[in-house]
Amino acid sequence: MRCSEILLAIVSRFERIEVTKKGKIHEVVKWPDPVLQKPGEKVTVFDAKLKTLVEEMFESMYAAQGIGLAAPQIAISQRITVIDVSFKKIPEEKIVLINPEIIEREGKQVEEEGCLSLPEIREKVSRAAKVKVRAQDVTGKWVEVEGEELLARAMQHEIDHLDGVLFIDRLSRLKRDLVIRKMKKMIKNGEW
Ligand code: NI
Repeated sequence: MRCSEILLAIVSRFERIEVTKKGKIHEVVKWPDPVLQKPGEKVTVFDAKLKTLVEEMFESMYAAQGIGLAAPQIAISQRITVIDVSFKKIPEEKIVLINPEIIEREGKQVEEEGCLSLPEIREKVSRAAKVKVRAQDVTGKWVEVEGEELLARAMQHEIDHLDGVLFIDRLSRLKRDLVIRKMKKMIKNGEW
């Protein structure tokens, strides 16, 4: 890497963060950023910095009009995800999952899914209808979260992100290839 390229990389990483009254808003990275395909690191330190990051993740998610956000989507390769399927309406529905794992799955649902890292792409994805997730909260305490329908879908989608898996990876080979072709075309046309 030449000196000018390093400088450019640093500048672009800085531009990914916008400072507002509610804290830092991180820009959501898009496909094909390699960070999206890399499994996140396990979180081992539960400190004030983590709490701030989680708050910033919620604000970044709301700013991007999303109901779920995983840390790799803001270029932080760690096993952290935030979900709010009520989109600010019900405070109890704000969920933080750190180092999560799905411990129970039941049934099947096939619904259309989208992702902040794949804007405008929507495809039907098959998921479990109901899941039970074991995860740590911001203090490091282990909790269990059960969800069905949209919440179950969101948890499966976000936990996939922590394993470097995108929803297009859950499509048939043919469908996935078509979506990738569409995204490449959008990138080429400067529409991405
Ligand atoms: Ni996503």
